[in-house]
Amino acid sequence: MNITIIKAKSLKEKPDPKALGFGKHFTDYMFEMDYFDGKGWINPTIKPYEPLELHPSSLILHYGQAVFEGLKAYKSQEGKTLLFRPEQNFERLNISSDRMCIPEINVNDAMDAMYKLLEIENDWIPTFEGTSLYIRPFIFANENALGVSTSAHFKFMIILTPVGAYYSEGFSPVKIYVEQKYVRAVPGGVGMAKTAGNYAASIKAQYEAKKKGYSQVLWLDGCEHKYVEEVGTMNVFFKVNGEVITPELNGSILSGITRNSVIQLLKSEGYKVTERRIELKEIFDAADKGELDEVFGTGTAAVISPVGELATDDKKITISDGKVGKLSQWLYNELTDIQNGIKPDKFGWVKTL
Ligand code: COI
Repeated sequence: MNITIIKAKSLKEKPDPKALGFGKHFTDYMFEMDYFDGKGWINPTIKPYEPLELHPSSLILHYGQAVFEGLKAYKSQEGKTLLFRPEQNFERLNISSDRMCIPEINVNDAMDAMYKLLEIENDWIPTFEGTSLYIRPFIFANENALGVSTSAHFKFMIILTPVGAYYSEGFSPVKIYVEQKYVRAVPGGVGMAKTAGNYAASIKAQYEAKKKGYSQVLWLDGCEHKYVEEVGTMNVFFKVNGEVITPELNGSILSGITRNSVIQLLKSEGYKVTERRIELKEIFDAADKGELDEVFGTGTAAVISPVGELATDDKKITISDGKVGKLSQWLYNELTDIQNGIKPDKFGWVKTL
C-alpha cells in the first residue's frame, strides 16, 4: 500500500508522562483512508492530527454505523516498539464490521498503516511505568444521506494517544454496581461487536452508577437479568474456591483479547479455567460461604482491574477485603511484563517493530 504522507508545520509539546490519564492527549499525526462503493479502500494518507470535515447529513451522525478497536504500543528497555497481538485487533475489527454492514479492511494493509504511523510517532510512546501509547483504529459511515441503509462511503482512521491507567483508581480495586434496570445486549443484537452504539447505550447506567459511588456497571443478560455478562469496558473473571470462571462468549459479550490472553496465562500456570454461564446469585452465594476469592476485569484499556466491591440495591459484597487479590496482582505483573518485553513471551504474542 502506498501511503501519502503530509508533513505537519509544527509539532506539539509532549504531555507530562506522570499525569496522562486516558485519551486526553493526541499525537501529531493520524492515518486516514476512504472507502467508496465501486472503488474499495483508497487514498491511504498519514497527515497532521486535525478536525474532520463532516456534512451535517453524514450517516454516522444519525445512525451510528461505526466500529472501533483499541490496542497499545510499548517501549522495551532496548528502545524497540512492541505491540501485543495486533493482528487480533484488526481481525476483530472485521468481525465487528461484518455485523454492522461495513466493508472489511485488508488486515495486512491496516497493520502496515499502523506501523508507519507508529514509526513517525515513535517519540510519543511513553516510557514511564504503567504508561503506553493507545492506538485507536476506527471506521465510520460517511455518506451524506438520511435514508436508513448502509453507506456508500466509509472512513477508516487510526489515532494515537499516550495513556496511563484507565481508571482514576489506577490498579487499586474498583467498586462495581450490578445493573438490574438497563441492559447492554440481547441475543441476536450487536453485543459481540465493538460498535459505537454499545458504548452510547451504556453511558446512562454508568452515569447513574457513578452518582452512587461506583466506577462501572456489571451487565447482566438482556433476557432474564440473571446471568453475568461483562463490565462497562472489560470482561470479568471470578475466582471461586480456587477455580477461575468467566462468562462464555455467547454472542452478546465482547471477545476480549486480554480475556483470551488471561485464560491462556492461567491455564499455562495450571489453573482450572471455565468459560460458562454464570448466575449472579452463584457469585453472591459463594461470597456468603467465603468461597469467592477474587474478582477482576480484563481489557486493553483497563489491563487487569481488581474488583473490591460488587453491589446491587439490596446487597453489597466486599471482595478480598477490598484489597488487590494475589491472582490479580500476579496476572497484572505477568501480562504487563510480557507486553513491555521484560519477561520472555512464550506465547508468541509480542510483535517487535
Ligand atoms: C479498550 O479496552 O481498548 C476499549 O476499547 C475500551 C474502551 C471503550 C475504553
